[in-house]
Amino acid sequence: MKERIARIPVLKQVYKQWYQHKFANDCYGCFWGVFETFEEAIRAAPATKTIGYNCPELARAYQREIEAHTSSAADLGTANQALMRSFDYPVLYWIAHIRQVTPLDSIEFFDFGGNLGIHFLSYANYLDLPSSLRWIVCDLPEIVKLGTSQNKDSRLTFTTDFQLASGSDIFLASGSLQYDEADIALKINSLDRKPKHLLINRLGLYDGRKIVTLQNGGKVFYPQYIFNRSEFIQSLQLIGYELIDRWEDNVDKCYIPFHPEVNVHCYHGFYFKLNTGVKA
Ligand SMILES: C[S@@+](CC[C@H](N)C(=O)[O-])C[C@H]1O[C@@H](n2cnc3c(N)ncnc32)[C@H](O)[C@@H]1O
Repeated sequence: MKERIARIPVLKQVYKQWYQHKFANDCYGCFWGVFETFEEAIRAAPATKTIGYNCPELARAYQREIEAHTSSAADLGTANQALMRSFDYPVLYWIAHIRQVTPLDSIEFFDFGGNLGIHFLSYANYLDLPSSLRWIVCDLPEIVKLGTSQNKDSRLTFTTDFQLASGSDIFLASGSLQYDEADIALKINSLDRKPKHLLINRLGLYDGRKIVTLQNGGKVFYPQYIFNRSEFIQSLQLIGYELIDRWEDNVDKCYIPFHPEVNVHCYHGFYFKLNTGVKA
């Protein structure tokens, strides 16, 4: 229906104005525009919200979300399981597989965009994480500030320093690489020691050219990439990683009105392993 309206010029204009107004306000999760750069997307953003994840109010909203999930499930004895979502299970499967060859007590996780420790909290329930394990969440300053102030678990630490990914065993990035303007392959390649395993989840990719779009995130707008699938995979293969597995995330998707060429029905997850012989 929306596509049919978009073919009639007058209706297209009316629909565009209506959508732009909606996008500027309460259209949580909606996308707007195709841009070349983050800067261009930010310039095109409505003035109704601030830009980006580095926002104290957003950090507090994440905290309330975690509390709501865990308290509603607490009486069933499943508090942290309630934080698991369908797209988390392939990652859990591969962590369980990796622990068969590398005991978890010597594993260091680097969780890029790990928010307030949501993956640590949810996976801990399934993996029986030992006290000697190190789980580093790397996120933006406001998230790191709140995460650190509330953290009571010595296995979990928060940082803004990407260099701490150097030498980690498992580099996890769930729904986060697309929000970082920098190229992840270049960032990983610049580390002294590359992570051995990359578990990348909730990523928007398709067969067209890499673009930037803008999303309404409720309290803020965020610019983000939709990657070209083969370019993204090759960028990691070129720095020494082998693609072991990929899976669909059928929760996240990207439909950008007036840009039918960027229609991403589902997001994807990947497991890459560092080739033997490449310096870890
Ligand atoms: C969509 S949330 C995903 C949170 C969580 N990993 C998950 O899968 O539910 C994106 C996360 O990436 C973080 N993020 C965005 N840009 C980042 C950057 N440049 N460096 C580190 N973290 C970033 C955000 O603060 C947020 O915690």
